[in-house]
Amino acid sequence: MPHADERVADEPEVDGRGADDAALRAAAVAVLTANRRGASTVPAPGLYPYQWCWDTGPISLGWAAAGDWEQAWSELRTLLSAQWPNGFVPHIVFWELSDDYFPGPDVWGTVGLGAPGGPPTTGITQPPLPVSAAAALFAADPDRARAARELDGLWPHLVAWVTWLGRARRGPHGAVVAVHPWETGMDNSPAWDDPLRSTPESTHTHLERRDVRTVAADERPTTVEYRHYLGIVAALRDAGWDTEQQVEASPFAVEDVGFTAIAARAAADLAAAASDLGHDADAAQLSTLAASWRDGIEALWDVDRAWYRAYDVRAATFVGPATAGGLLALWAGAADAARAAQLVARIEAWSSGTLRAVPTTDPDAAEFDPIRYWRGPVWVLVNYLVAEGLRGSAHDDLAAQVRSGTRALVARDGFCEYFDPRDGHGIGGEGFSWSAALTLWWLLS
Ligand code: DGY
Repeated sequence: MPHADERVADEPEVDGRGADDAALRAAAVAVLTANRRGASTVPAPGLYPYQWCWDTGPISLGWAAAGDWEQAWSELRTLLSAQWPNGFVPHIVFWELSDDYFPGPDVWGTVGLGAPGGPPTTGITQPPLPVSAAAALFAADPDRARAARELDGLWPHLVAWVTWLGRARRGPHGAVVAVHPWETGMDNSPAWDDPLRSTPESTHTHLERRDVRTVAADERPTTVEYRHYLGIVAALRDAGWDTEQQVEASPFAVEDVGFTAIAARAAADLAAAASDLGHDADAAQLSTLAASWRDGIEALWDVDRAWYRAYDVRAATFVGPATAGGLLALWAGAADAARAAQLVARIEAWSSGTLRAVPTTDPDAAEFDPIRYWRGPVWVLVNYLVAEGLRGSAHDDLAAQVRSGTRALVARDGFCEYFDPRDGHGIGGEGFSWSAALTLWWLLS
């Protein structure tokens, strides 16, 4: 990662990349500024008006690249101030109540279970991208005293988070089990279709689709999917939000390659930072955890499909077509050279048009839908994780192509939530924080 002082927010154009970079940078900073709510930043106004767990990682990187290191560290501190006593980190923290989002705190009903005196939160989690972000900020912060102080302050929370995941979410292959599609971050991925069908539908009489006030319904999950999402929430609520026992309690339990990859990378990134901070005792435990998750990913390789696939723990079967979740094995460094070559061939085939950007579902799969959220659209975050993984697997040329393809998307249509892989036009929410943040951290660095 480049050092932050090479990427000052208002730097003059000196590198020959033209006026576009300066304009893009200013626009990205404006999005983060508009979405900031004091100590943390919401993913998108209207659509996602709270602090989301995995968004917090890229958002903190964006603030760092914008030169606001205090805000960058604040994003992580704020999220972790809502950590539950056993290490669990909730997927949404409801800092300021809003009418724009459903389901809110009343539906989750977790009050009194989380951080003592803390804000209301959900009772499910999300991939620990903020852990890797903390390690990346530590490596790049030009103020070394601040970097050490901040990471040291976060340290017990970060270690507790990954060890909770290792303890409470281990699946039969050794991968991380997600107990709700929302936990994967890739809510309506076709990989969840079969397991979701077996879950109860909510009988909640006030199921409200506030998301479709701001985004076209055909770009969002369906209402039937929402009924199942709420049905799983009800089952977990009835089980008392015991976050040590959710794999047993949830009607949905799926080993997810993407989640596992982010967890493996998080543990490895923390292990690498441990000795710099004098936490050598933690380093061995974290390295062991990272290796066990990489092994879990390897155990999810489906030889016939030549793909890392999700595994439905309830039905004891692999599920779904090839999706972006499998590609995140690259981010974890879990794919050996032969497997990486197979993933590379698929990325090249999937993005063989003018745009070298990665659809979230195999375009040849029956379930592929180019505009519906995680069933096909291109996401800046996925492209970033894949491109960084490609660099780590010595596929630098393709990594560079994914990066420039992504830059072309945001330069043309702005910081949309996602993009149609057929022609690259922006869809979903507008002014999306991680699209802006990763433009600053990755595309303009
Ligand atoms: C949503 O509401 O669509 C979110 O992705 C849930 O986390």
